[in-house]
Amino acid sequence: MNVLLIGGGGREHALAWKLKQSPLLDTLYCAPGNAGIDQIAECVALDAAEHAGVIRFCRDNTIGLVVIGPEAPLVLGLADDLQAAGIKVFGPSRAASQLEGSKGFTKDLCAEYGIPTAAYARFADAGAAKAYVAKQSLPIVIKADGLAAGKGVTVAATREEADDAIDACFAGAFGAAGAEVVIEEFLDGEEASFFALVDGETALPLATAQDHKRAFDGDEGPNTGGMGAYSPAPIMTEALSAQVMNEIVMPTVRAMQTRGTPFKGVLYAGLMIKDGAAKLIEYNVRFGDPEAQVLMARLKSNLLPALLATAEGRLAGIVLDWHDDPALCVVMAANGYPGAYFTGTEIKGLDQASADPQVQIFHAGTMRDGARILANGGRVLGVTASGRDIGEAQARAYEAVDKIDWPDGFFRRDIGARALG
Ligand code: AMP
Ligand code: GLY
Repeated sequence: MNVLLIGGGGREHALAWKLKQSPLLDTLYCAPGNAGIDQIAECVALDAAEHAGVIRFCRDNTIGLVVIGPEAPLVLGLADDLQAAGIKVFGPSRAASQLEGSKGFTKDLCAEYGIPTAAYARFADAGAAKAYVAKQSLPIVIKADGLAAGKGVTVAATREEADDAIDACFAGAFGAAGAEVVIEEFLDGEEASFFALVDGETALPLATAQDHKRAFDGDEGPNTGGMGAYSPAPIMTEALSAQVMNEIVMPTVRAMQTRGTPFKGVLYAGLMIKDGAAKLIEYNVRFGDPEAQVLMARLKSNLLPALLATAEGRLAGIVLDWHDDPALCVVMAANGYPGAYFTGTEIKGLDQASADPQVQIFHAGTMRDGARILANGGRVLGVTASGRDIGEAQARAYEAVDKIDWPDGFFRRDIGARALG
């Protein structure tokens, strides 16, 4: 079967690497891909926002499955248009993608179905939002309703900060995504990422994972897309996973089905865990990045049949096996990220760094210039290693990181510390 993978980040390189191992696969195409993906897939310059062009490509290349990596094309309805054209797709419809595309949508759904989450209110104007904040305790969380590339959330310690975040939102800091704000109670605890494949009806939980969202060691500095991850997450006990499935994931799956907008794809629940119980912070409708890197490193079963079964509503018959050995991913980012950064800087030493068969270097933001590899994004590499325990995986990942010669990048030295602590 020929597969078209949409996206070009570290998540997509990890998915491509794992898809490539499936005997079911003939040719793997990736749009747009990156300098790592182009070593294992045929990268094509397709614009994912141009649905007719994607459909034409699928027909011309007898694509048996399209796998959509990032949230933006999902929210714009790429899966709907592919499906309408008779092309199989892994990824939710536009309506089901509202679980990530509108925070207010998800909070309302949680309220309707009794799903544990932070108390909240929705506002379409600044005055009412500020009046509400004035009556709440601090800290308080201000969120742009729509997709804001991970930048739309402010955890405000003071009312001034909260008011500023509200003003910024309504002043257009996040474009149309900020036309409405959601204000939430601050949840205390430890965060974890929970993933389940969902075929509309059946949900199949994946291995557990945690990421590190802050830019600097000790969980300091600005929020990022994720500076590292590991799997399994020791905090996610079996009892806790069962609670998440019973109280959060399954009620959501049933609600979406009842509403006539079934969710098909991978549902990513961002959790806050306190005293052994989880609350939902938010949903994403795609794999996490860099969580996908460690999940793919640990997945023993073939990925392609599982994604195909998800698309075809056959998940009930699927079992996934995982390697016992933990995996850990260290993200290398361009100096300045998540703020302004330079692109086009050269990265050397990748071959030596990836010589160990238990190390995979997933490219996130890279491009090729002749024989040279250049940085081409904020998060640039995801150096991923396996080991008998988290400590060994961590040591192996940093050994590889230290062989990479890229003075224009930085990384955290403490990925996995929470799991080891
Ligand atoms: P989100 O984009 O909703 O995942 O928010 C980004 C980050 O903000 C989360 O990973 C949390 O660290 C933090 N956050 C969001 N909502 C809350 C909340 N209600 N309480 C505490 N922290 C939150
Ligand atoms: N690692 C966080 C995310 O993928 O949104």
